[in-house]
Amino acid sequence: MMQDLAMHMLEILMNSIGAGAEKVVLSIRDSAADNRIDMRVEDNGCGMSEEMVRKVTDPFTTSRKTRKVGLGVAFMKGLTEQCGGSFDIKSVLGEGTVVSASVQRDHIDLPPMGDIGEMIMYAIQANENTDLELYYTTDNDRFVFSSSEVRQQLEGISLVEPDVLLWIKEYINEGITHAKEGVE
Ligand SMILES: Nc1ncnc2c1ncn2[C@@H]1O[C@H](COP(=O)(O)OP(=O)(O)OP(=O)(O)O)[C@@H](O)[C@H]1O
Ligand SMILES: [Mg+2]
Repeated sequence: MMQDLAMHMLEILMNSIGAGAEKVVLSIRDSAADNRIDMRVEDNGCGMSEEMVRKVTDPFTTSRKTRKVGLGVAFMKGLTEQCGGSFDIKSVLGEGTVVSASVQRDHIDLPPMGDIGEMIMYAIQANENTDLELYYTTDNDRFVFSSSEVRQQLEGISLVEPDVLLWIKEYINEGITHAKEGVE
């Protein structure tokens, strides 16, 4: 199974949405100069106990019969280990969670970035009321997207109208392409 980075990030975003977060911030730092890609998802959802954080990051250490957690987080952690990176979860019950993953940008096993615009589109579709923010930073530039800003501008039109979703996807991908211009 070959998942691009966007699909890994979607798993993490879906967890934040599932945790009832009102706001989720995805920051991607794509640095050719440092040869790193840093990904960070911060939410104000229900949070996790320390024990839960342990179970989620290492689902195979728990007894199979009692294992109720899935593999989204474990896969992301595995990817970072495979690609010369690091992984971390900080979570406080009732306050929220920060998932940080970092990989070596030119690692031979690193999957492609994938379609970030489409990934954000899926996340908005999952819950249009969650405020989603994206920061995409390169060595030269930064692109910012905020679903709540778009929602305000739409004045009552739903974010999950197909035309709106497609516009969002293209707007994000153009912004990212622009932020990458002149790098490398
Ligand atoms: N941001 C988060 N806030 C609160 N709880 C979280 C968060 N991320 C993960 N969790 C908890 O960790 C569990 C495991 O997450 P993980 O993505 O690994 O598997 P899953 O969501 O249960 O299943 P799937 O394999 O479908 O993703 C979740 O079910 C949830 O209880
Ligand atoms: Mg999950």
